[in-house]
Parts: sequence; structure tokens; C-alpha cells
Amino acid sequence: MSLAPTPASIEARERPAGERFGVASPPLGPFLAGIGGTPLVPLRRVAAAELKPGVELWAKLEGANPGGSVKDRAALNMVLEAERSGRLRPGMTILDASSGNTGIAYGMIGAARGYAVKLCLPANANRERRALLAAYGVDVVLTDPLEGSDGAILRARALAAADPSLVYLDQYRNPANWGAHVRSTGPEIWAALGPRLTHFVAGLGTTGTFMGVSRALRQVHPSVRCISVQPDGPFHGLEGLKHMASSIVPPIYDPGLADEALSAPTEESLRLLHRLGRSEGILVGPSAAAALWGAIEVGRRLDSGVIVTIFPDGADRYLSDAHLFQPVGGGAALPRTGREG
Ligand SMILES: Cc1ncc(COP(=O)(O)O)c(C=O)c1O
Repeated sequence: MSLAPTPASIEARERPAGERFGVASPPLGPFLAGIGGTPLVPLRRVAAAELKPGVELWAKLEGANPGGSVKDRAALNMVLEAERSGRLRPGMTILDASSGNTGIAYGMIGAARGYAVKLCLPANANRERRALLAAYGVDVVLTDPLEGSDGAILRARALAAADPSLVYLDQYRNPANWGAHVRSTGPEIWAALGPRLTHFVAGLGTTGTFMGVSRALRQVHPSVRCISVQPDGPFHGLEGLKHMASSIVPPIYDPGLADEALSAPTEESLRLLHRLGRSEGILVGPSAAAALWGAIEVGRRLDSGVIVTIFPDGADRYLSDAHLFQPVGGGAALPRTGREG
């Protein structure tokens, strides 16, 4: 039996994704049509000792997107909206600021749809992020690491002002960022769990995920409680998340949408990252660990409930971060144990 996709199976995959993102023409193509529709999985072991039996934890595994993160959804929707408005046409250059994942998503989508990408990125972005951006041919402008994502935003604004031919998609201000989650992530969660869902918990970066999913769920299920998670201080190491009190607040952020705002401690979150990998077989990045910390905090107070959170990316793009992952034997070849394979 051939595993090659037939025209009919390509079309079947394209149709739902195209519909999710409102695409008529040009079609997404089977590769970009793989954005969204990520697994939503129950977490049965990681917090079993802390939660009552009637409390369910679920996580949406956004690392399963083709570009490896939740930001595929936002980048795709921002690109498509810019195309629809006529602002973005083949051969033009997309500009934005990103701590990495949105830039990687633009690199992938830009290559697939015929755009160059210029990205302002804090210079302390890790090796995996910089290698992926280079592989997609993204033109990276490194900014002061001490200024974090705010420094990258300020540089992107200056570049956009100096060169009007750049199409500045400005994910922090662009409604198509959170709109991606109204179109896709929120409805996917609702389709899977329906009115059993009681709580939604997510981290805040640009805030697009939290804003869009919360709005989508509230529309169909007004009693759902939406809880945001941000780092508990300005120097946190929870890549992708923003400590709002000490950052440029994204114009798309509406703090009034959250029923509750939690502050995640870095150390405890990172301990959970390892516990999750070892108890469930799911390896995630630090922002997912903070989201899990928030979901468990919420779950501890409940006798029963169904809590959904978002894991924005997987661990594979953090493996060079020595404070997160240490190779067995300090990087030397692993000794054979006789238990392999
Ligand atoms: C790893 C990671 N986690 C969380 C987020 C936050 O998602 P959002 O920007 O939708 O708030 C991002 C955003 O870039 C991210 O890259």
C-alpha cells in the first residue's frame, strides 16, 4: 500500500484548515494546511497526587504544528489578513519583532508563500532559534539582550518608520494575532470538550493566545473561567512570556478578559517541566511549564472540573539551554546498557 498522499487526501487535509483560516485563494497547500488541529491530551499522572479525582487536566500540544509552536497559527493568520487587505503582495518583505517562535513561523510561511522576512530578535535568543531562522533564510537584526523583547519591538518600529516598503505585521498590535485563536484554537478546544470544560489557563506573551481562545470560548460557553499566567518578576527565564508590569504592554492585551491573573514562579515551573517529561512523556518549553503550574494551582482548589491549558512549544528548541537540560554524561556518547531498542 502506498503511503503517498492522494489528491483526494491532500484536498481533505487542506479543506478544514483552509476553512479555519478563511482561505479561498491562493490555497494554503497541504503543508501549511497542517497548521492547527493539534493534539489535546489528558494529563493523568503529573499532578495526580495534588488533585481530587474529579479534576481533569488537559493540554493542547502546540509543538505539533509544522513550525513547532503555537505561533504558526498567529503568523499564518496575520500573513493571510495582510494578503487580503492588499498590504502584502508576493516579493515583499515581512517585518516583525519576536523572541523567536513567531519569527520561525514567518520564515516557514514566508518561504512557502513567496515573501522575504526580516526579524528583530534579542541577541540572547538561543542556538536552536537562531539556527532555525537562518535555515529559513530570515534576515535577523539582533537587538540588545538586556532590553529583551521590548528592545526588539523598538527596533522594528524604527525600521518600519525608516522603510515603508517593509510590511510590519506588528504581532503585539495586530488583531489577526488573537483572531487566529478565535478561528482555530478556541473552536478546536470546544469541539473536543464542549460544555464539560470549566477552566481555561494560558500564559501571556503577546497575549494573542489568551485573548483569542478566551473570547472564542466565552462566546459559546459564558460560564467558562479564563485564567492568565505571567512570570512573577521581570527576570524570569520563562521564554515567550511577558511580565506585564515591567514591559511594553501589548496593545492587543485586555486584562479585563481574565477572571484571574496568576504569577508563575520560575523555579517551580521548571521543576514541573521535568516532572511532566518523566511522568507523561511530554517534553515542553518553559512557558508551557508555567502554564502547567497555573493549571495545577487552579485544579488544587476544585472538587471537580475540566481544565484546559496550552503548551506553546516542545523542548526540542531549548536543548542547548544548559540550565534546562543536561546531556547524560556531560555530552559524551551514552554507554550501552543492554536495554536499548
Ligand atoms: C514559547 C512561547 N510561549 C508562549 C508564548 C505566548 O503566546 P502569545 O504570544 O500568544 O501570548 C509565546 C509567544 O511568542 C512563545 O513563543
